[in-house]
Amino acid sequence: MCGIVGYIGHRNASELIIKGLKRLEYRGYDSAGIALFNESQIKVTKIKGKVSDLETKIIRKKNNSGSIGLGHTRWATHGVPSDINSHPHLSNSGDLVIIHNGIIENYAAIKEELVNRNFSFKSDTDTEVLVNLIEAVQKNGNYKLGKAVQIALNQVIGAYAIAVFDIKKPNEIVVARLGSPLAIGIGKNEFFIASDASPFIEYTNNAIYLEDEEMAIIRLHKDAIYRKIKNDSLFDPYLQELKLNIEQIEKGGYEHFMMKEIFEQPKAIEDTYRGRLNVDKGIIKMAGIEDHLDKFLNAQKITIVACGTSWHAALVAEYIFEDLARIPVEVEYASEFRYRNPIISDKDIVVAISQSGETADTLAAIKLAKGNGAFVFGICNVVGSSISRETDAGAYTHAGPEIGVASTKAFTTQITLLTLIALKLAKEKGTISNSNYKRHLVELETIPNKIEKVLRSDSVTREIAQIYKDASNFLYLGRGFNFPVALEGALKLKEISYIHAEGYPAAEMKHGPIALIDENMPIVVIATKFGHYEKIISNIQEIKSRKGKIICVVNEGDKIVKELADHIIEIPESLELLSPMLTTIPLQLLSYHIAVMLGKNVDQPRNLAKSVTVE
Ligand code: G6P
Repeated sequence: MCGIVGYIGHRNASELIIKGLKRLEYRGYDSAGIALFNESQIKVTKIKGKVSDLETKIIRKKNNSGSIGLGHTRWATHGVPSDINSHPHLSNSGDLVIIHNGIIENYAAIKEELVNRNFSFKSDTDTEVLVNLIEAVQKNGNYKLGKAVQIALNQVIGAYAIAVFDIKKPNEIVVARLGSPLAIGIGKNEFFIASDASPFIEYTNNAIYLEDEEMAIIRLHKDAIYRKIKNDSLFDPYLQELKLNIEQIEKGGYEHFMMKEIFEQPKAIEDTYRGRLNVDKGIIKMAGIEDHLDKFLNAQKITIVACGTSWHAALVAEYIFEDLARIPVEVEYASEFRYRNPIISDKDIVVAISQSGETADTLAAIKLAKGNGAFVFGICNVVGSSISRETDAGAYTHAGPEIGVASTKAFTTQITLLTLIALKLAKEKGTISNSNYKRHLVELETIPNKIEKVLRSDSVTREIAQIYKDASNFLYLGRGFNFPVALEGALKLKEISYIHAEGYPAAEMKHGPIALIDENMPIVVIATKFGHYEKIISNIQEIKSRKGKIICVVNEGDKIVKELADHIIEIPESLELLSPMLTTIPLQLLSYHIAVMLGKNVDQPRNLAKSVTVE
């Protein structure tokens, strides 16, 4: 949550930071602010609203010069979104300025102590407490900024990625991280700071990702100093060459990132299995699994931890793993898992799924599982993310940057990767016949083309969206492998259109949701041919008798459901186990079109953020 951007060099910091903040708006977008250092002054401009509102304000106030600056886009934790609570925050003297992504959990106690020492506070934020704590430390011991930051951070509990500037040392910025991501772009006589590399990708390919409890003192015309926060030792960081390119983070002609990402799915899935799946030879190559094959084959159970859409991918994986590899699987919300006393031992494998690789609850669940001796395998999209570093082994989905807050291609690529793993383990364990294994490999390779086909019939979904866009509630029903798809379809709709939607296993409808059905209730049913087809038809009959409006996702040429449903969306046939990658596409499109028709902000829905780095 929250995006931070900083710059020290020779360019106009304001332009660069505003552009960078726009790229990080997926992380939070309720308020934004910037501090620029120019002519021995720190000029702070902040506003409740979007980065574009901030841009207008700094142009109007002519507060846009300077080649050192810090910027922030916020997702409120402590204190409502307001101009005052927006970052950057100044210390009482006005000498220090800070931007912060994270939460200082013990801020109240620190604040009380600072108030006793005559510090005063303008905002309700934990961040203003932190910058004043740094100032108090500085004053106490006459410390330079770097040392003061280090001492202060050793007193705080919580998570942070911070950048701090001191007017008394105008050629440096101090940055530090614990639990929230922080990348430093290394240019020629210039440094960039950001929550991810997207703000500086057009200026440099060289980046350093700080690890937890690391800090850096970034100095103009000098090398940066890298130091451990806890024990004061210096270290040489790993300089990473970035593979990201600018096209990947732009909309490429689409009106919204979400639509671009929906349409990218055929390619994203190919990128996920490229180099791993060799259909001709009947081989699945995955180093992360092969290197630890014994652990997987002997695991007494696999527990999958995740949040949001990734949790839905985990539910699909539960069906796939148990069906193919006959390994018991439990799926847990990371946020629940971390606070109960789960039965996990060194005989268990824990799989953590996360698009961003930064979700705080998933990260905490991983640490708990490792603490209990489990082997933890990560499935992430963002290369070098915290979760990918914290896990014992893992595999990337290689879906490319996902910027729309509502997750789309992350879901289908996670399922692709999990299917590859399950097939590989099934083959190794001998729980799948050769012919069935081969059939799955062949079918998996056809999925991108089949998705292309579904995308081509987008106009059908748009027409349905037009009819039901004003409904107040939706139900989504599916069975078996497609039950989690129903959950995901409902989540997509509520995330971006704010229409209440519930996903249910179709048969469970009788135990409650059926009471909601009347002629005003649209019900989306996944009714593909393979797997529970007759049962689903009975469920559709039950809905019809209660006059619900039936929208069905069916296989091409289906006649029976077509007779019963008010609307059908046809998709190509596939194996039941692989069908979630196809059935989910019309549901993504339906929610997208409804949200656009309702005039909602599709890429940045209210109250949400892409990367949830707080509990
Ligand atoms: C947020 C996002 C969701 C995402 C979830 C988990 O809630 O808005 O789209 O599914 O976090 O994120 P992760 O990066 O761990 O997959």
